[in-house]
Amino acid sequence: MPTHGIGYPIPVRTMTSRIDICPVSELPPGASVRVETEDFDIGVFNCDGQLLAMEDRCSHDDSVLLDEGGFDAATCTIECPRHGSVFDLRTGRPTTLPAYEAVETFPVLVEDGVIKLELE
Ligand code: FES
Repeated sequence: MPTHGIGYPIPVRTMTSRIDICPVSELPPGASVRVETEDFDIGVFNCDGQLLAMEDRCSHDDSVLLDEGGFDAATCTIECPRHGSVFDLRTGRPTTLPAYEAVETFPVLVEDGVIKLELE
């Protein structure tokens, strides 16, 4: 990381972009939606009122879409449909094997009644 001459790291600013997902009314508690971006798919979940977004890919096998597994809104988790690893949607971390690497999570916000994803 670059410094400004006295040893403190300079925060690197990156461009962020926002993607409109859908009106809040279209993603009620317990519902989810898959969003395709240029680079990867993202699952957006309503965990009983808490909106969360996570890369839609199992870290145990990149080709598996997690949103095809079991979404549990009460525990904010999703279970991989292939081998059953459970991922915490709040952190992206698997809580059971065989997956052991986290997948990326993304900030979700609501503006003017529309759910939006913030991407770097
Ligand atoms: S592919 Fe998801 S746990 Fe193996």
